[in-house]
Amino acid sequence: MGKTLSIQNVKKSFTVDGQKVDVLKDINLEVQEGEFIAIVGHSGCGKSTLLKIIAGLEKNDTGLVTVDGKEVNGPGMDRGMIFQEHRLFPWMSIEKNVQLGLKGLSKEEKTKLSDQYLELVKLSEFKKAYPSQLSGGMSQRAAIARSLVSQPEVLLLDEPFGALDALTKIELQEELLKIRERFHNTMLMVTHDIEEAVYLADRIVVMSARPGRIKDVIKVELGTYRDRGGSDFAHYKKKIFDYFFEEKTVVPEYNI
Ligand SMILES: Nc1ncnc2c1ncn2[C@@H]1O[C@H](COP(=O)(O)OP(=O)(O)OP(=O)(O)O)[C@@H](O)[C@H]1O
Ligand SMILES: [Mg+2]
Repeated sequence: MGKTLSIQNVKKSFTVDGQKVDVLKDINLEVQEGEFIAIVGHSGCGKSTLLKIIAGLEKNDTGLVTVDGKEVNGPGMDRGMIFQEHRLFPWMSIEKNVQLGLKGLSKEEKTKLSDQYLELVKLSEFKKAYPSQLSGGMSQRAAIARSLVSQPEVLLLDEPFGALDALTKIELQEELLKIRERFHNTMLMVTHDIEEAVYLADRIVVMSARPGRIKDVIKVELGTYRDRGGSDFAHYKKKIFDYFFEEKTVVPEYNI
């Protein structure tokens, strides 16, 4: 089952060359159990920093992040993160990479779990292969299996499909929806792909830059199974698109 996530008044700045840079300011967001949130915003507006704070890999300067009411103080098994690049260890087989997050289990238990998740992402045949022997899409599937194997209730995805070709991306989006249906994880996904956000999310968080703030949160009311070619779908795409190009130029593709 997924968990609720609460972000209250989060602020974060970094110091670069003695200069303080405000990266995130006034970030407030309540995420329901099992909800899928997409985060969109210009490059550098603090999306990855926000995910890292939730993952416990960065510390917020002020404010509070809680998962099911418990303050986040560092990484934990309840949260899994998938990065844009797969971050698999090249010297380990896929199976060993997937088993990395499993602690305190016997060899047999680890194998059983990694087999189960490799099957889920259709990589059973490649469990003895090394990352260099897989395609980009397969590596990202392995990374998904690795983050799911410890059964995190909250899954944080930082542009997980950004480097993939369009067809592989669509395939993995479908797989992500199946995973969600099966495990009911709460998911937060950063994406630069507006169509991906509209296809997957219950709500889309639009961020503005310098410092990164939440500009708007849009509820996508398109039901469970979405038609990428539908006029309602195009309406949401245009709505998000217009946040980034405020002069509201009519772009033929989005002209409905
Ligand atoms: N460890 C760090 N030290 C100093 N500055 C950092 C650090 N991490 C991020 N930043 C700065 O914080 C800002 C936000 O970075 P972040 O990676 O969160 O952006 P982003 O929205 O994920 O961008 P992109 O879409 O390009 O991935 C950037 O200006 C970046 O230079
Ligand atoms: Mg980023």
